[in-house]
Amino acid sequence: MLGTNKFRPKFKGQKGILPLSSSFNRIDNFKRYRSGIIIIGLLILWFLFDPYTNIRIRLYSKSAFTLPPAHPLTSKNVIPTNSKYIYPAVEKSNLLVQLGLNKLFKVTDIRDAKAPDVEQIVVKSLNYFDDVNEAVQKAKEEEENASSELEKVKNNFKNHDKVVYTPKDKNKYPEVVIVTALDFEKYSNGDLVNLVQNRIDYAFQQDYGLYVRYYQEFAPVFNSVKFMKKSEEAKWARIFALRAAMFAFPKAKWFWYLDQDSLIMNPTINLKQYLLSPEALSPVMLREKSIIPPDGLIKTYKNSNAEDMRIIITQSDSKLETYSFLVKNDYLGKCIIESWSNHLFRSYGNFPFGPDSALTHALQWHPYILSKTAIVPARTIAAQQTDVDISDVTNGQQGDHIHYNKGDLVVSWSDCQDTAQCQQSLKKYFDLSKSK
Ligand SMILES: *[C@@H]1O[C@H](CO)[C@@H](O)[C@H](O)[C@H]1NC(C)=O
Repeated sequence: MLGTNKFRPKFKGQKGILPLSSSFNRIDNFKRYRSGIIIIGLLILWFLFDPYTNIRIRLYSKSAFTLPPAHPLTSKNVIPTNSKYIYPAVEKSNLLVQLGLNKLFKVTDIRDAKAPDVEQIVVKSLNYFDDVNEAVQKAKEEEENASSELEKVKNNFKNHDKVVYTPKDKNKYPEVVIVTALDFEKYSNGDLVNLVQNRIDYAFQQDYGLYVRYYQEFAPVFNSVKFMKKSEEAKWARIFALRAAMFAFPKAKWFWYLDQDSLIMNPTINLKQYLLSPEALSPVMLREKSIIPPDGLIKTYKNSNAEDMRIIITQSDSKLETYSFLVKNDYLGKCIIESWSNHLFRSYGNFPFGPDSALTHALQWHPYILSKTAIVPARTIAAQQTDVDISDVTNGQQGDHIHYNKGDLVVSWSDCQDTAQCQQSLKKYFDLSKSK
């Protein structure tokens, strides 16, 4: 009878029935050299992590890891406010139109001696020329304010960047902050007042904060006074408004960017119960769905965990949309926002839809960012307007996850073709939101 143990290869001297496999001696040698390899490995780890230098830096130099303090985009100073609704003087926006970007910023022509025929400009915020002494600056502005209404509006415009929420009672910090960028050339001051009022009403009801900026305030980022003419490129200002909001409300938990071409229609919805808690988010996250609808190759993950999500965003029927999305305010959320708004992305010529295209790229090529991003149906936070009555099941629109239906949180008309059409939609939905 053959004993099963006979089949095992035997060590030195003892003969087995089967020949040794060709790799067996290598394994045997490996064992002998293992302690050597371990020592080399430890030395490599020591070299990589270099605890000696780390300890030394910690003991002797406190400044090695500190970064310069954060500050507003265009100034080193801040203006504290205890109101959690931060918005510009929209009721005077017509005066901003009158002044124009050439007066609201310092625009300088520069010529390069090597290429004198190339015209270039530098757009600087007027904050750049503030007196370093805050008291002197204040006195100067008071004098200017007294001199004319236009100077007053100009000062308000430049100072808005510096406003930071500084609550009296730290326990009353808003968990969610709504962020909106406004274009004062697209909507009249009456329209802008309505847009801001709509968000304040909602923020008041839900105890959220509000942070409103003008698109035009970000001209220094684009280094251009004509950037609003290219509407897709101008969308980048949304991301910068969001970054400014993160600076103004450092302790908020979530930021909701909601663009100007939209209104909150159902103020009773509490975002936390509705979308932000993992229990609410998990069932609505679109899993294994194309990032570029309807059938792009790269899809969202099947098993991503709702708790990991830092960005919550929606799609129209053909692409990702950035007119309404949510960002979590933590290290990773900020990291994603900062890489998204990086100059390399902004200056890349093949992103036809500005930040929408850049994020699409990031999600398709950087699995890590995709694993932190939830795509949800548009009707949750970004329902689009439509002429079709989608509540009517007979017209075949049942199960529509994109278009606005009564009771939805938001209606958006970001697809409006010209200023008149956009204003018309605003009027229509603002009246509707008031007629309850
Ligand atoms: C000047 O007026 C603007 C607009 O009302 C205001 O925001 C700003 O605080 C004023 N500046 C000073 C120093 O009073």
